[in-house]
Amino acid sequence: MKIAVIGTGYVGLVTGVCFSDLGHDVVCVDRMPEKIAILAAGGMPIYEPGLDAVLVRNVEAGRLSFTTDLAAAVDGADAVFIAVGTPTRAQDGQADLTQVMAAAEDVARALTGYAVVVTKSTVPVGTNRKVAAVVRAANEAAEFDIASNPEFLREGAALKDFMKPDRVIVGVDGARAQEVMAAIYEPLQKQGFPVVFTDLESAEMIKYAANAFLATRISFINEIAALCERVGADVGAVAHGIGLDSRIGGRFLRAGPGYGGSCFPKDTVALSRIGMEYGVRQRIVEAVIDANENSKRRMVEKVLDLCGGSVDGKKIAVLGVTFKPETDDMRDAPSLTILPALLGKGARLHAVDPIGRKNAEPLLPGINWETDPYSAAEGADCLLIMTEWKQFRGLDLARLAKSMRVARLADLRNIYVQAEALAAGFVACTGVGR
Ligand SMILES: NC(=O)c1ccc[n+]([C@@H]2O[C@H](COP(=O)([O-])OP(=O)(O)OC[C@H]3O[C@@H](n4cnc5c(N)ncnc54)[C@H](O)[C@@H]3O)[C@@H](O)[C@H]2O)c1
Repeated sequence: MKIAVIGTGYVGLVTGVCFSDLGHDVVCVDRMPEKIAILAAGGMPIYEPGLDAVLVRNVEAGRLSFTTDLAAAVDGADAVFIAVGTPTRAQDGQADLTQVMAAAEDVARALTGYAVVVTKSTVPVGTNRKVAAVVRAANEAAEFDIASNPEFLREGAALKDFMKPDRVIVGVDGARAQEVMAAIYEPLQKQGFPVVFTDLESAEMIKYAANAFLATRISFINEIAALCERVGADVGAVAHGIGLDSRIGGRFLRAGPGYGGSCFPKDTVALSRIGMEYGVRQRIVEAVIDANENSKRRMVEKVLDLCGGSVDGKKIAVLGVTFKPETDDMRDAPSLTILPALLGKGARLHAVDPIGRKNAEPLLPGINWETDPYSAAEGADCLLIMTEWKQFRGLDLARLAKSMRVARLADLRNIYVQAEALAAGFVACTGVGR
């Protein structure tokens, strides 16, 4: 199939690269010439493990190219995937559809023959029908159908998630669109991965419901973690114990500082706003959002308590700033709430992150950047683990403790055993839920 992908961000780029690897002819479009220049030169504008090699392989095979010329990419395409951003709209928390609708209009004007216009961006229920109306209004003669194909990939594991998905969800409104979408996903379907066809509204809803459910699990275990601390239980043991129940399952039950990233925060807020708009309050989702904000605030208190009630003038070594390992994405990372709060209380922060610094630096003014954990920890009053990068998992705790002024450990990802940290010379430790 001939495919155009509009937007070369975390989702669009992975989608384009993977479709080409499945054998389709793909042209990726972005309105930012600097991104396209990097990609055309075989480089990567984002950090996503393994993506560069697959990109190069498919460019060399002649199946994948990059352009800013949307009309040229859309010309003759069987399907056009819109994978542009849908950030939170500042005034009301709804998903901001400006980029989606602008892309739909551009696509409409560029359509030359029948094509399926596919929304891959996460969009509220009803958006696909609005996209259809926008396309129709911009090009009365256009021959097209629409499809909703929400994306479930995780940053840091995006290639695997796209190529070995738990499921592919496709919302359609007619047989012709279904045929095209079935042909596009046939290579995955033939390998046994479920490709589920449904109506447009259900597909749109599935994406929000899935993200809200996962966010709920995280907020749930984080609140249980807070209670564990009070009653003397260990949230790790609790999560293991409940996760062995096959009705519950063990994943997404790791206590931490709170969820972040480009999806859960904005999608939970958007779903709660959709509920309000339709007069069907999503009270659980609203509570999840509230619990997550509370969780981040609780982390600040935790560090303060560990440091004897004040961080004023104290040096804190911060390990990791991205919302999770294996990504450079800083959108809504918990560090963006926790670190400024500590700075505001007078802490001196020395941070290190394997990949995130470039995106984080403009968002976190006042932080001193270090290149490795040991130099960050020198003379510090506290070591604060924010992100569980594998580079931070096997550190020499004795060496760290020895070089610190006061060896305190705030391990917000529970990657170290506290007894071992104490044995290595740390004088005080805190984790989440234990
Ligand atoms: N990031 C994730 O992990 C993830 C996972 C699943 C779903 N999603 C959803 O996918 C969508 C995209 O997310 P993302 O993280 O890839 O966003 P992003 O901001 O990284 O990328 C969007 C890209 O689209 C480009 N763009 C915007 N308007 C354009 C236009 N008219 N023409 C050409 N290019 C245009 C931008 O320049 C940018 O490069 C969002 O709706 C998001 O909710 C994201």
